[in-house]
Amino acid sequence: MAEMKEIILKRFSEKFGDGDGAKAYFAPGRVNLIGEHTDYNGGHVFPCALTIGTYGVARKRQDKVCRFYSMNFDNLGVITVDLSGEIKPDKELDWVNYPLGVIWAFEQKGMKIDSGFDLLLNGNIPNGSGLSSSASVEVLTGFILRDLYGFNVTNQDLALIGQFSENNFNGVNCGIMDQFAIAMGKKDNAIFLDTATLQYEYAPIKLDGAKIVIACSNKKRGLGDSKYNERRQECEDALAALQTMVNIKSLGDLDEATYEKLSPVIKDGTKCRRARHAIYENQRTIEAVSALKSGNIKAFGQLMNESHKSLRDDYEVTGKELDTLVEEAWKVPGVIGSRMTGAGFGGCTVSIVKEENIDEFIKSVGEAYERTIGYKADFYVVEIGDGPSVL
Ligand code: GLA
Repeated sequence: MAEMKEIILKRFSEKFGDGDGAKAYFAPGRVNLIGEHTDYNGGHVFPCALTIGTYGVARKRQDKVCRFYSMNFDNLGVITVDLSGEIKPDKELDWVNYPLGVIWAFEQKGMKIDSGFDLLLNGNIPNGSGLSSSASVEVLTGFILRDLYGFNVTNQDLALIGQFSENNFNGVNCGIMDQFAIAMGKKDNAIFLDTATLQYEYAPIKLDGAKIVIACSNKKRGLGDSKYNERRQECEDALAALQTMVNIKSLGDLDEATYEKLSPVIKDGTKCRRARHAIYENQRTIEAVSALKSGNIKAFGQLMNESHKSLRDDYEVTGKELDTLVEEAWKVPGVIGSRMTGAGFGGCTVSIVKEENIDEFIKSVGEAYERTIGYKADFYVVEIGDGPSVL
């Protein structure tokens, strides 16, 4: 981190004249261990923050101008936005729509940004990998705005503001999981979050000689142009049908047995399967966390595998790339569990692998993937880190 701080501060002064008074910050990416597509269905999730993420340098200005520069999009150069005009999404602004959406969200919530600022970003989360590079930028921007302008908001508020900007400025109807995991991250812990109430609990991740390995499919996807919003709508339709039979607020209110009894009321077979995934996945998540707490990592891994099958068969968000990575992973000795993680439709998988088998895992899954898909996957052995910080 110390080295990175030096690099970004230096680049900031190159891009913005000098580095006087500039401060450096960090916000993590996240990986979800289990509880997928449950967060907008009032269910539970179990994500954790990573030690990879987005680094930033910022400094207030005297005028109302903001200047943005990302080392990841050097070709786009410095992008300037005048905050005295109307703040609205603009395709031309590319990645800047994420920090801009957060500025907009603060203002919507009555927190006025009275001057502009210069912002440099540098992320080491692979873009479009499904490790939440966009939520990381949102939470980082909120964290920086709080620090620069002294707004009285908690980290949990930063998560909600990030989600609000993603939903209403960037047009993706995402749930709260990503921003919450990033804003509330805690080293070596995953967060067991009930998305219906925002009650949460930290659970230490002790993997007993195993590590978390991410396999990135390198199939690019953007949530906005994926089927994400469509899945969400299908779940809402299924919920509306179920609500004609029982008094529930979300799919997360149902257990498996009640769902099986009531499901005929959902006339559409596809919507039935979407709801079944959301309900079973929520119960699996609760069960997985209790298995982990009692030290039963094997049961935790098996529930991860079940999660993948349900995302593949009922929710249909995996695709050939993620299925290949997971099904090949299941064949490797020392793999405790493996599943797709995040929205799906590309992105990456998360596996828990015994340390002594990691090399073999990377070799054998990597070779099979390239043979089947025609291009390479990337592998990362990751660590669970803290939430946002000043460097
Ligand atoms: C994306 C969304 C999250 C969540 C996951 C699926 O990461 O941003 O809110 O819905 O997909 O679990």
